[in-house]
Amino acid sequence: MLATEKQYVQWFENETLRHARWLSESNQVPPARIVLVDDKTSADEAYRLACAGTSMLWQGDFQNARQLLQALTRRIERSEQRKMSKAANKLSKAAESEFDTKLENAKEIPNLFHQQRQAQAQRSRLLSRLLLELDAGYVSQLRRAPDVSAACTAAFGKLDEPCLISFRDLQGALGAAGWRAKGVPITNLGLSIFPHYGVFAPTRHEYVQLLLDAPLPNKHEVAFDIGTGTGLLAIILAQRGVKQIIATDLNPRALACARENFERLALSSVQLQQADLYPTEVPLANLIVCNPPWLPAKPTSPLEYAVYDANSAMLRGVLQGVKQHLAEQGEVWLILSDLAEHLQLRSRDELLGWVADAGLEVKYRLDTTPKHGRSQDNTDPLFAARSSEITSLWCLVPFDNCNNT
Ligand SMILES: C[S@@+](CC[C@H](N)C(=O)[O-])C[C@H]1O[C@@H](n2cnc3c(N)ncnc32)[C@H](O)[C@@H]1O
Repeated sequence: MLATEKQYVQWFENETLRHARWLSESNQVPPARIVLVDDKTSADEAYRLACAGTSMLWQGDFQNARQLLQALTRRIERSEQRKMSKAANKLSKAAESEFDTKLENAKEIPNLFHQQRQAQAQRSRLLSRLLLELDAGYVSQLRRAPDVSAACTAAFGKLDEPCLISFRDLQGALGAAGWRAKGVPITNLGLSIFPHYGVFAPTRHEYVQLLLDAPLPNKHEVAFDIGTGTGLLAIILAQRGVKQIIATDLNPRALACARENFERLALSSVQLQQADLYPTEVPLANLIVCNPPWLPAKPTSPLEYAVYDANSAMLRGVLQGVKQHLAEQGEVWLILSDLAEHLQLRSRDELLGWVADAGLEVKYRLDTTPKHGRSQDNTDPLFAARSSEITSLWCLVPFDNCNNT
């Protein structure tokens, strides 16, 4: 899973020039300036270095590096909170005042969203400046270092040379290994899904019930699950009795993950294809399901491809391909949150325009209200938008179908 183009990084250690492979899942460029730090380095000093663009190669105790990362995170959060609370104050004052100001307030929402993403990117850059060295096979020589080899191999693929990696990416790999071992319980299905590193984990799965509640089309022999991720939607369709399901994804990690989940459940009705949207050389589908990334914004790293869909390209691509892939009397089930509308990143009219342009119309819509932590956090400047979010299953059919049923 390592990027095909290898990148290397070099630094001085006791006046000796060293070099190693550079690994960064968040697409950070190899650092130009690296200093050595250890248990004696204070959190304030580390924060100052990180803000000044200096990367720090940890030489101390492994567990202390973990604490330093937490201390850095707190300092970054305090600085972010100061910036965001200024913006939030502006919004809440506007919300209490006159209509004109409320309009101003509404105009601020896309800016606030943009600011939040910039803050996230800055946080990721700063936290990625604490590095550690791993020997070939992902072995750390640091004091009290755990065995990270299996978690790193599962996340990043085999590596037969030493590397520098950020502590943050390493923690991501360890966290993912935990999820993969433990699984995410999907209570209304009575099973657990086992996500892999870099694959959209259905921790927020309010839409599962929508897929269980939607009436299957009369003919439902063949279904496509476009952008299958962990395979969750395909599993629901299989449980509901669809005989042949073809699931696609562009991300090889998703395909490996879905395959493992299907095997755990001994599902023989699902085939997997690596494809940009639609599978090839398969029959027409009676049902096409898709849960595209919900926010039309540019992903900044491969890990964001499941969350952000630049210019709604996946959503529009799926809609445009329906006519070519749907059997007569077939249906499309699109899972979509309206958060993008509340954030003014896409309008309802735009969405309905794309549906109509694809020769489709809405047969019905099932809605649910998400209960995840972020929608309840009233300190978030975008609370009004996030707490109004509705997740829907849009059942779409070709114009002529709807009139004939
Ligand atoms: C929001 S996730 C949904 C995953 C899964 N269907 C679910 O509901 O849990 C979107 C998925 O679409 C995949 N994807 C994005 N663009 C794609 C494309 N052009 N073709 C196929 N899959 C794509 C991503 O890799 C990701 O796994």
